Amino acid sequence: MLRYTAFAGSAVLAFASLIGLGASWWFLLPLLLFGFLTALGAYDVMQSSHSILRNYPVIGHMRFLFEGIRPEIRQYLIESDQDEEPFSRDKRSIIYQRAKGVEDKRPFGTRERVYDSGFEWLTHSVVPKIITDHDFRVRIGGNECAKPYDASIYNISAMSFGALSANAILALNRGAKKGGFAHDTGEGGISRYHREGGGDLIYEIGSGYFGCRTAEGRFDVAKFRDQASDPQVKLIELKLSQGAKPGHGGMLPASKISPEIAEARGVPMGQDCVSPAAHPEFRTPLEMMEFIGTLRENGDGKPVGFKLCIGHRREFMCMIRAMLETDIVPDFIVVDGKEGGTGAAPLEFANHMGMPLVEGLTFAHNALRGAGLRDRLKLGASGKLVTSFDIAKALALGADWANSARGFMFSIGCIQAQACHTNCCPVGVATQDPLRQRALDVTEKSERVYRFHNNTMKALAEMTGAAGLDHPGKFLPHHLLMRESDRDMVTGQEVYPYLPEGFLLREEPDEFGYLMRWQRSRAASFEPVDGTYV
Ligand SMILES: Cc1cc2nc3c(=O)[nH]c(=O)nc-3n(C[C@H](O)[C@H](O)[C@H](O)COP(=O)(O)O)c2cc1C
Repeated sequence: MLRYTAFAGSAVLAFASLIGLGASWWFLLPLLLFGFLTALGAYDVMQSSHSILRNYPVIGHMRFLFEGIRPEIRQYLIESDQDEEPFSRDKRSIIYQRAKGVEDKRPFGTRERVYDSGFEWLTHSVVPKIITDHDFRVRIGGNECAKPYDASIYNISAMSFGALSANAILALNRGAKKGGFAHDTGEGGISRYHREGGGDLIYEIGSGYFGCRTAEGRFDVAKFRDQASDPQVKLIELKLSQGAKPGHGGMLPASKISPEIAEARGVPMGQDCVSPAAHPEFRTPLEMMEFIGTLRENGDGKPVGFKLCIGHRREFMCMIRAMLETDIVPDFIVVDGKEGGTGAAPLEFANHMGMPLVEGLTFAHNALRGAGLRDRLKLGASGKLVTSFDIAKALALGADWANSARGFMFSIGCIQAQACHTNCCPVGVATQDPLRQRALDVTEKSERVYRFHNNTMKALAEMTGAAGLDHPGKFLPHHLLMRESDRDMVTGQEVYPYLPEGFLLREEPDEFGYLMRWQRSRAASFEPVDGTYV
């Protein structure tokens, strides 16, 4: 409760000064000072727009003081900030501005280092288009799907109730409802706060089968059928892995399991809640497709797909072979980049396990094209997609839509304190502490979720029109240019070309090693035919 010290201390000193006033008029000075601080503290805990002040009354103002004098020390702050933070100050401020609905334009020109290698830009047209409707949608659900879903091309990525607070889940879901976009539950099941919000849900099923599990932790088809038939559920997503900790399970310690979390997950209180690293229900590519078939048969006709971060590329090819062999083709696949986020992960996993989004996405896109399956499903992408440029680039490289987790966390007030794993989130986003999460005002923050999405889509419409296109889905690799050195630039078409449809089925050689991996993949097992794992 240290964070209330300044407020409580001022109140005590104001009271003492009031008593002291009886002895001498000099106490008027401290009474005025501490009286002011007490009133300020009282205002802080009652106001709704600044979560940090609700949790750190009086002292929280220091943060705004430093922010206020930032321009003077900008050069120093920006340099050090860019290097160390997952999201730069610039990217965060654009999200905050769009969430608050304040002016998000930039004066004085770009701060990007346009002559550094790796700088990227999109080509514009001399005949730009004006796009009036920025409610861009993509239909998810193939031929076998009775209830396809017209999804927004920007949705809230998976974050469990448990990793996030009840108020955070409610604010995200209400914002999604208002904006007509989807909210992925994360592997922690569908909580009462998801249901209360009423927004469209992507029901994610991880290796813990939360919300549809037996007492032993195996998949329970009857419970799944119940969950899937909820009209709020629009998509069913099987989670294989997330970029920040691929191949690494999770564990929510018993101490963090509240009755609501236990209810959402269908787990007992007082026991650690484990998500195994691998799915107990399938061990081979064929079994995986059969499991997807089971989800589809019992999924109330809703689109079924899976999410992964690309690991051994050959294993993804094994999944594709199993799709061809069983003719069970998921309705969508979400590719998560290694740069993705998490509530908590070992450093080595967070830093060096899993493929970055650009490579993972282009690989999945081309492998599916090579097998002639790309048109039978939709491809989602996630991994630091927070500005309209990030989204346009992902669409150019082969995605049909984008998801963001931390972008929406920033919209509900996350300040990137990176304390998600401590239960002491300063703004009530990633905590189960009832007092800390009180700082997050659901009404205020759900509006910010809606505005962030809406203003990001508006910015995407502007970029799309400027490129002379009428839908962002029409961005292609040749629209993207990248600087290779201070003299050379390359197009996305040169570096991330769309490979020919069916080239793997025709066993056509390629320069990127797709055929080599295809020939070493099989539907019956994830084990390599020749014992080498690549
Ligand atoms: C707090 C937090 C919790 C997450 N929980 C899940 C989860 O339960 N299931 C999952 O598939 N991904 C989870 N993720 C990963 C995100 O859904 C997303 O794929 C990743 O963070 C990339 O998106 P971003 O860069 O916009 O954050 C989580 C991410 C965060 C930050």
